[in-house]
Formats: sequence, C-alpha cells, structure tokens
Amino acid sequence: MKTIAVVCEKGGTGKSVIANELYESYVRQGVPASLYSLDGQYKDASSSKKVEDAEVAIVDTPGVLTDNLSDLVSGADVIVIPVRPTPNDIEPFTRTVSIVTKNTNAPLVIVVNGTNRFRMCASFMAWLEKKSWAKNVVKVPQSEAIVQAQGMQKSVVSVDRHGAAAEAVRTMCRKVSILAGLPFEKKQLKRIDTH
Ligand SMILES: Nc1ncnc2c1ncn2[C@@H]1O[C@H](COP(=O)(O)OP(=O)(O)O)[C@@H](O)[C@H]1O
Ligand SMILES: [Mg+2]
Repeated sequence: MKTIAVVCEKGGTGKSVIANELYESYVRQGVPASLYSLDGQYKDASSSKKVEDAEVAIVDTPGVLTDNLSDLVSGADVIVIPVRPTPNDIEPFTRTVSIVTKNTNAPLVIVVNGTNRFRMCASFMAWLEKKSWAKNVVKVPQSEAIVQAQGMQKSVVSVDRHGAAAEAVRTMCRKVSILAGLPFEKKQLKRIDTH
C-alpha cells in the first residue's frame, strides 16, 4: 500500500480539499483508497471513505505539527504540501518543509493554492523556484467551483469538469500518482468540433 501525506503547519492552505481530491481521483479510477483525517474537524465526513485492502492511503493532517507528523512523514511515499502564496504563509511553510525533509527522502509535491487570488504570487513563485526541494510544483487556482464541489462533498472534476480548477486538480493528482507509482488519469484530449 502507498501512503500520501498531505501536510502544512498552517490552517486554511487547502490540505483537506487536496486530500479529498486525491481520494476522489482514485475512486474514479476504481483504485481501492482510504482517506484518513487526523484533523478532527472532518472525522465524520471521511469515516465512510475507508476500505480494507486499500492500495493507497491518503492522510489529511491538521494545521498543527505534532510528534506524530514526523512518524507519518517518514512512512509516506509522497508528501503533498499545499501553500497559499502570501507573506504570512512563508514561515510556517518553510518550517513544515524543514521538518519533512529531516524525516524523509520521499518526493515532495508543493501545491501553490490560489494562484490567481494573491498579488504576490509571482514573487512567491520566483522565490520557490530557487529552492532545491521544490522540484515538483503545481498550481491550483482559487475557484468558486472548488467551493461548490466541497459543499456537495464531491470532486471539482465531476462538478465542473472542463473548468480551470478541474484541469489543475487533475494535473496535481497525476503528478502525485506518478511519483507514488500509482495509476493516474490520462490527460483529457481537447474536443475538436469538426463540423
Ligand atoms: N483552490 C481553492 N479555491 C477556492 N476555495 C478553496 C481552495 N482551496 C481551499 N479553499 C477553501 O479554503 C478553505 C480552507 O481549505 P481547507 O482545505 O479546509 O484547508 P486546510 O485543511 O489546510 O485547513 C475551505 O473553505 C476551502 O473550501
Ligand atoms: Mg483541514
């Protein structure tokens, strides 16, 4: 079984959204998956999202670093770190990265969440580009479709499949799956009208 840990010390960076989208991407593909939430807030929502003999476990974590986090991270195959591209996020984000890299050599996927929402995003991306640990960076836009999907307890990919957020989420899931050695959804071919 593969384990994907979704971590970031700061709350509100999109951990639960991203963890749920990863879970849903395996459900869509018929890959047995379990979603564990160490964040008490969503315990009930994820209690039904567990199967025996899962091929992949996705672990959503709270915005507080605990001792368990080092254990979790050291046992994970891929670590996903969502971050908001704002000045307030840099310190908790870099602290998270340093704890993670101390405890594992597993690949990191940095999800820059809300790229169209924050004015400093361009300088944040330039800062991130110089970091040796930021090899796998994906962007997810701030999107009403993500909020709607979350309210319906669905994936944005099924709620607004041709939207920019769905496209970004599919790219994110693909990247994580490739690094974890798990099946992934193929890129959608653009429909070409031929009439
Ligand atoms: N890309 C996005 N577009 C719109 N809303 C988002 C996006 N990512 C997260 N959110 C919203 O931001 C809030 C925090 O997200 P959440 O996944 O709960 O963060 P965390 O688990 O890191 O605390 C939620 O209300 C969620 O709907
Ligand atoms: Mg959460």
